[in-house]
Amino acid sequence: MCVAVMMEAVTPVFPISALSPMVERIKEKFQPKWARKPVMSSRPSFPLWMIILIVFGVLAILGITIGLLVHFLAVENKTYYYRGSFKVKGIPYNNNYERETSQETNHLSHILENRMMNAFQKSNIYRQYINSQVITLIPDNNSVTARIWLVFKASASKKENTRRRIESILQQMLRNNTGSVTADPNSLKLEEISKSEAEKMINSRCGRRARMSATYDRVKGGSTAQEGEWPWQASLKKNGRHYCGASLISDRYLVTAAHCFQKTLNPANYTVSFGTRVNPPYMQHYVQKIIIHEDYVRNEHHDDVALIQLTGKVLFNNNVHRVCLPEASQIFPAGEGVVVTGWGALSYDGEYPVLLQKASVKIIDTNICNSKEAYNGLVKDTMICAGYMAGNIDACQGDSGGPLVHPNSRNIWYLVGIVSWGNECGKINKPGVYMRVTSYRKWIASKIGV
Ligand code: ARG
Repeated sequence: MCVAVMMEAVTPVFPISALSPMVERIKEKFQPKWARKPVMSSRPSFPLWMIILIVFGVLAILGITIGLLVHFLAVENKTYYYRGSFKVKGIPYNNNYERETSQETNHLSHILENRMMNAFQKSNIYRQYINSQVITLIPDNNSVTARIWLVFKASASKKENTRRRIESILQQMLRNNTGSVTADPNSLKLEEISKSEAEKMINSRCGRRARMSATYDRVKGGSTAQEGEWPWQASLKKNGRHYCGASLISDRYLVTAAHCFQKTLNPANYTVSFGTRVNPPYMQHYVQKIIIHEDYVRNEHHDDVALIQLTGKVLFNNNVHRVCLPEASQIFPAGEGVVVTGWGALSYDGEYPVLLQKASVKIIDTNICNSKEAYNGLVKDTMICAGYMAGNIDACQGDSGGPLVHPNSRNIWYLVGIVSWGNECGKINKPGVYMRVTSYRKWIASKIGV
């Protein structure tokens, strides 16, 4: 990952010693009389104001301690997780609702998620509301059942009350059949679940992050990734050394670049690792099989796609789970913000980071990317350019095979591109070129059935 870094302004700091004469003078001024001069009497007597001060001080400390105790024992908010379901009526049967990445699923889920968010934010428990999501949709004759997932914070004493209020807010929401969606309020079910069950639900779905995305978005100015921020990112290692990126697309398969396998194809030489630290890795897996695209030609750029099958299933957790694959028909227009991640060189011929790096880039129109000053027609329609024509921010050597991802309107992350090639890194008019995942969506399905 190559990112131009701006120098930070340095604020001057006074050395502590420079202040010490001043401190001494202040100390002297505020010292009580009996301490300033040697006193003849062996029993110093405290003035009244000082006794009052001490008493008040002690009382204040006592008060704060009791307050804190009460706060932590009784009032402190805990996080509670819920799973539930309800029926949406009047929707003709369509098995596309079963596909988690279909347009139908995203469209209906988005409507329901917005409705839930509005209902909770307008309610009198808006302060306790943290998140609500549609996990899956189950189509039936003329209806779709939505499985939902909710997070709230509440004090332990109000726990049962909170669950009942959530239920009544949802029921009210389902009764208000505004807009295009008609729901059945009597179908509502809601139950509290444990944190680990809640995380399991999220981590089994593609492209989501179990920890709230808001905490990630607050991290600014740095390009080092947070643990669990890009849980599908893998490091492909040859004899224990990182040399390419890859993306987890199921519990058994990863997608990467074909050019990552130049010489040897023996699975025994390769390992795949996860987690933000490249060495020692957080989780490691062995390789069973490598599938290179049939039309890939060594030292050429087209069809630079490969699949890696692992020897065993990956147990998904907050830090390791799969990214969503877009439907073949999905369109990612020029100008869309996307993120590329990897352990590649920080500049062309530069150093390699230990921690995963991220860079925000933009999709570039293929015609612009193919202009004379840029790649002069080398970019095929199975490729997609991303970065900036002005340069600076780009993927680099060692990022190859890694993900270029885009968050949809529900903040679910989709794999748009696979890092493939570029002229050096971050050069003017030479943005990164990626394999366009939608072009290879059917090929992937034909090989691994997902
Ligand atoms: N081919 C390079 C690799 O093997 C990565 C190319 C990406 N270059 C770029 N400027 N975006 O790691």
